[in-house]
Amino acid sequence: MIQFKNIKKRYGKKEVLHDITLTIPKGEIVSIIGGSGCGKTTLLKMINRLIPISSGQILVNGDDVYKMNPVELRRKIGYVIQQTGLFPHLTIRKNLDLVLDLHKFPQEGRTEKINEMMDLVGLHRDLLDRYPVELSGGQQQRVGVARALIVDPEVILMDEPFSAIDPITRVTLQDELRSLQENVKKTIVFVTHDMDEAIKISDRICLMREGYVEQYDTPEQILRNPATPYVESFIGKNRIWNSPEFIKAEDIMVEANNLAYPSDSLLRCMKKIKDIPQDYLIVVDRFTHNFRGLVNARMIREQDSLQGPVSDIMAQPKAVAHIGDSLIDVLNTIKTLHRPHMLVLDENECVAGVITQSSLFATFGSHYLDEAEVV
Ligand SMILES: Nc1ncnc2c1ncn2[C@@H]1O[C@H](COP(=O)(O)OP(=O)(O)OP(=O)(O)O)[C@@H](O)[C@H]1O
Ligand SMILES: [Mg+2]
Repeated sequence: MIQFKNIKKRYGKKEVLHDITLTIPKGEIVSIIGGSGCGKTTLLKMINRLIPISSGQILVNGDDVYKMNPVELRRKIGYVIQQTGLFPHLTIRKNLDLVLDLHKFPQEGRTEKINEMMDLVGLHRDLLDRYPVELSGGQQQRVGVARALIVDPEVILMDEPFSAIDPITRVTLQDELRSLQENVKKTIVFVTHDMDEAIKISDRICLMREGYVEQYDTPEQILRNPATPYVESFIGKNRIWNSPEFIKAEDIMVEANNLAYPSDSLLRCMKKIKDIPQDYLIVVDRFTHNFRGLVNARMIREQDSLQGPVSDIMAQPKAVAHIGDSLIDVLNTIKTLHRPHMLVLDENECVAGVITQSSLFATFGSHYLDEAEVV
């Protein structure tokens, strides 16, 4: 865990960080994002004391970093930067070995440790005897990550580590970092200016502007509930459409008006169906709206008598959605079911709404119309 308490930074008379207080929970990836010069690197480098603070306190796992020996501190904290910082005149093996030297790692076991790191970051061991220039940018960056992890630090700081990498390799590295994190569970502070990257890799995002924190929240919250107009403009109006996993069934459903109660007679149901656009009714408990079943016009017509209650013949749908299901889940289910509509239930299995072709069209339509307005 990393705690910033009332952190200020001044260069001469100019204050570049204004009273920042924030906590980075243990084992999470937190991205710091914001425009150029807003103070991301400054905030990051204060954690391992590469930049001194003007006032305030930084605690790493409860310990005040300014009460620690800076060399000791830096050994406990992995650091990955855009330029990798690999020594060009040393082989990859030597570059990794150097870190083990610094940590007085016993000679015995070093080969195994180095091999293990190469495996962890998905690099072939054959590369160990090459020089950094003989590796691609993505491979060099993986070595950078291996070097930061080799002494098993609690905290890893990454300053735009993937920004010089081509977009395709960059996406691979982001995926790898996320899955690596599932194994190593480090506290990772990741500086980026790429919102897609931040959304993809982070448990939380700290969005900064000119030395202030505008919003510190989960990617989902930042996308769904931007705290300020600046955050909104920074993420872009339709950003959520790049992350359909954050669009939920409840965002696309419409109210279900075609309800019936279990004791309603089939005759009554048939009359209701005649008065509404849909050819089916959703049967719910009268007071709780708990979902009970579905009935359509064809099912009713097949009955000899229309006196009995609808509960005798109602059927269960093959699938229903729940309010928290993502748009992707919903679309997949609709695709496999070949049904034009889908019921949405809340956490108590009560009917919350219904997703229909027209509600989907409406949602997509407003997205594209909004976008057209922006252009
Ligand atoms: N050594 C310095 N002396 C004076 N001002 C500095 C110094 N280092 C940084 N600054 C200023 O502090 C502010 C924050 O800089 P910082 O490097 O933290 O920005 P950043 O958010 O990392 O930007 P970028 O996205 O361009 O890397 C900037 O206004 C910068 O000009
Ligand atoms: Mg920077």
